[in-house]
Amino acid sequence: MITFHIFLLIFTVLITVSLVYSSVKLGISPMPSSSKAYNAMMALADEAGTGPIIDLGSGWGNFVIRIAKRNPNRQIIGYELSFLPWFTSILLKNLLGLNNLTLHRKDFYNTNLPAASVLVCYLYPEAMNRINNKLRLKEIKGDFLISNNFALPSRRPCKVIPLEDFYKSPVYLYEIHEEDT
Ligand SMILES: C[S@@+](CC[C@H](N)C(=O)[O-])C[C@H]1O[C@@H](n2cnc3c(N)ncnc32)[C@H](O)[C@@H]1O
Repeated sequence: MITFHIFLLIFTVLITVSLVYSSVKLGISPMPSSSKAYNAMMALADEAGTGPIIDLGSGWGNFVIRIAKRNPNRQIIGYELSFLPWFTSILLKNLLGLNNLTLHRKDFYNTNLPAASVLVCYLYPEAMNRINNKLRLKEIKGDFLISNNFALPSRRPCKVIPLEDFYKSPVYLYEIHEEDT
């Protein structure tokens, strides 16, 4: 019994260390968006064409799994660096047999991303700056970007959905034009 408790303790410590390490390294924890945010993000994705959707930082898979289930004919791709959230999302994907969902354990800044119809993210202000620069340099390509909570600097959203959730945060939709700087 003591051996089991020691095993459980070591397991819990390892999980905690892994999550804290990734969160400090990446600048954000794998905290999922709220349900209201997911509904708003999915409604906006529906308006933004029928091509691939890429979640930049797919966390535990909450968004990618919902949208992959809802749109079996649409290609959904997630990038996540934190091991435990990524591993959990892989398990769920396989359990649910979501063949239209691809999950990469990769840094989305340093990966050749496929061109997306819709980029989705729930990150933090510094990451939005970096994504904005990459969009400008065409290092990240997408027709639309949906961001939960954080705006892209110096771009005007074509839609803002205010949420009545705990965070009272909006979801932004941007149309990415060739000529945008
Ligand atoms: C707040 S969570 C959002 C999860 C999910 N998109 C959602 O809306 O529920 C942000 C995730 O982005 C991941 N992340 C941050 N920077 C990353 C990077 N450069 N490459 C891959 N994943 C990253 C973090 O590990 C974290 O799990």
